[in-house]
Amino acid sequence: KPRVFSGVQPTGNLHLGNYLGAITRFVALQDEHECLYCVVDLHAITVFQDPDELTHNTREVTAAFIAAGIDPTRQIIFNQSQVSGHAELAWILNCVARLGWLNRMTQFKEKAGKDRENASAGLYVYPNLMAADILLYHATHVPVGEDQKQHLELARDIAQKSNNDFAKTIARADYPGGFFPLPEPLIAGPATRVMSFRDGTKKMSKSDPSDLSRINLTDDADAIAKKIKKAKTDPEPLPSEVEGLEARAEADNLIGIYAALQGTQKDVVLRQYGGAPFSKFKEALAELATEKLTPIGDEMRRLLADPVEIDRILADGASRAHAIADPILAKTKDIVGFIRS
Ligand code: TYM
Repeated sequence: KPRVFSGVQPTGNLHLGNYLGAITRFVALQDEHECLYCVVDLHAITVFQDPDELTHNTREVTAAFIAAGIDPTRQIIFNQSQVSGHAELAWILNCVARLGWLNRMTQFKEKAGKDRENASAGLYVYPNLMAADILLYHATHVPVGEDQKQHLELARDIAQKSNNDFAKTIARADYPGGFFPLPEPLIAGPATRVMSFRDGTKKMSKSDPSDLSRINLTDDADAIAKKIKKAKTDPEPLPSEVEGLEARAEADNLIGIYAALQGTQKDVVLRQYGGAPFSKFKEALAELATEKLTPIGDEMRRLLADPVEIDRILADGASRAHAIADPILAKTKDIVGFIRS
């Protein structure tokens, strides 16, 4: 039976990339599947977070999920640290994953930067915790942006190696086809990698020091219009075909964003705007972005005014997540050979 899992870090500045690459996809999947959407606070602290901001940002991601249209009564929304199985399974997987595998992770290299000696140990094993998130629920499908592809390939390798390492006890427990299903990444749509508005070669990110580089989910209409107006482009008008668009990174990015916001494809957008100057297209994009995003920002602010209710939703989600995770974790312990009472 398909089961969807995905996570978003509560590290502030939720942006258009998070929304189009991940959160809108979460919403789309909820009608067909059982879904768990997790605010991954354990992942967030791999880089130090001010405790008060972490608390606030956890509620903010929760509010964003709900404001975007995820129904917390039908699907499970929770914060990772409330289900201890994530940390427990991560430890087991730390012992399955190989250093050589982790050494290939490009995100660690980017985040640790030059001062690698000073990166936390948690940042290094971050992808193992991510594998644990998914495998703890035997999730089969994981909607993410393009930047998480390598981590998901690692999660599959970890699942595979676990199935091999514990093959003897898995066979004894009668799990035909292996204990951990290999999770399938779902990376699709015209905006799987939204780029910075300041530099078309860098992805839009929460940590970019320039606020002009991204549209935040909480931006108002003026901020959205200003950022789109200032977004870097080239001097040519919009092309008429998708072919060759890769060579024009900034144009490609804005067209992909428009397509994703409108729920269509790039070629459809180009049929409408091919040959138009960017000034005209940017006005249309600002209008569309405002129409789609400002109601979400407004709803987030409304939800955040009642933190007690948000915490209640997270507690409810956590208890339902526990109910799925606990038997899987217990069987995992049996398979590893741990005694439990
Ligand atoms: P995080 O918090 O960095 O980002 C959340 C989601 O947003 C996507 N995303 C983007 N998509 C398109 N364009 C962008 N510029 C862009 N920036 C971010 C990310 O791909 C992600 O889907 N490691 C994960 C969180 C995580 C997770 C998991 C995901 C923890 N455990 C288990 C899936 C399954 C992360 O840091 O996402």
